[in-house]
Amino acid sequence: MTVTAYLAHPDFIDELIGELGDVCERHGRLLLAPGPARAVAWAQNIWYEPQRVTIASIGDAAKTLRGIQRNWAHYAYEAQGRAKLIAEKLPHVSGKPLVFPQARPAAPLGSWTLLDRNTMLCAPHCSSAFSNGEVPFVEDKVTPPTRAYLKLWEALTLLDERPGPGDVCLDLGSCPGGWTWVVQQLGVRVLSIDKAPLDPAIAALPNIEFRAQSAFALDPREFERIDWLFCDVACYPKRLLTLVKRWIESGVCGRLVCTIKLQGETDQAVLREFADIAGSTTRHLWHNKHELTWTWARSEPGAGAPQL
Ligand SMILES: C[S@@+](CC[C@H](N)C(=O)[O-])C[C@H]1O[C@@H](n2cnc3c(N)ncnc32)[C@H](O)[C@@H]1O
Repeated sequence: MTVTAYLAHPDFIDELIGELGDVCERHGRLLLAPGPARAVAWAQNIWYEPQRVTIASIGDAAKTLRGIQRNWAHYAYEAQGRAKLIAEKLPHVSGKPLVFPQARPAAPLGSWTLLDRNTMLCAPHCSSAFSNGEVPFVEDKVTPPTRAYLKLWEALTLLDERPGPGDVCLDLGSCPGGWTWVVQQLGVRVLSIDKAPLDPAIAALPNIEFRAQSAFALDPREFERIDWLFCDVACYPKRLLTLVKRWIESGVCGRLVCTIKLQGETDQAVLREFADIAGSTTRHLWHNKHELTWTWARSEPGAGAPQL
């Protein structure tokens, strides 16, 4: 039977179990489910075609992994002392934090874990280029007013695309200004919208126009072209869905990056409606809390939409 392994965020294991619906084996937050890989939102990393290998010794495990490929990330679960000794025998893989807007690592990264002293689960191909799907950044602890900027850094890094000079950007629900700051730093003009004011240090930066109004009152017909629309508005998913459909139907937007805020019981029907929008991806990012990041790109003729 083909199985796939899915690694959950430590705080959102139940969400991934619920989304998969048919977990057949669980090792901490690593969940195995039958069949080929599915495009689930709550997995931080997906291990494609994991292999179960019986190992005779620490040296044997390291030799087996090195024989498959160079780069491996360890998911720490059982027999951690033994696993550490195996890891020491593997080539060093740089887990250096990225300096945004640095590109993500290009080299494939496999994942492995010990299920017990003598059994290893390993997968040479995984969905994430980062160890256990954790995307590390050299943080700016001075300028951005909160840590919300990290989820936009992560989304743009995984998209392999960023806004650039000449692009017109709209940031909805922008207060206190972390996302507006990220976009402004990329040399872009940004129209920043919130009912509450921006942090004064962000508002004083060049190329930012702030309007104190509701994001839902903004009419897409007011704009000729929006290259990137960002939305981190605190609102119910259904309300966000109406907003994104309106902007997509207007035809003025090139790309959207939105946070779907979740509270209490998740409205699965609304999430399915988001997922059904052609050219979109829904993902739980490492820096997301109880929320998902939904991205969309207008597809150019003959080109596939970029995927998170
Ligand atoms: C999570 S915060 C946004 C953080 C922001 N992205 C940052 O990086 O600093 C959510 C924001 O949504 C705003 N908001 C809620 N309802 C809104 C509405 N109808 N129109 C515009 N903004 C709204 C709130 O005022 C709040 O500032």
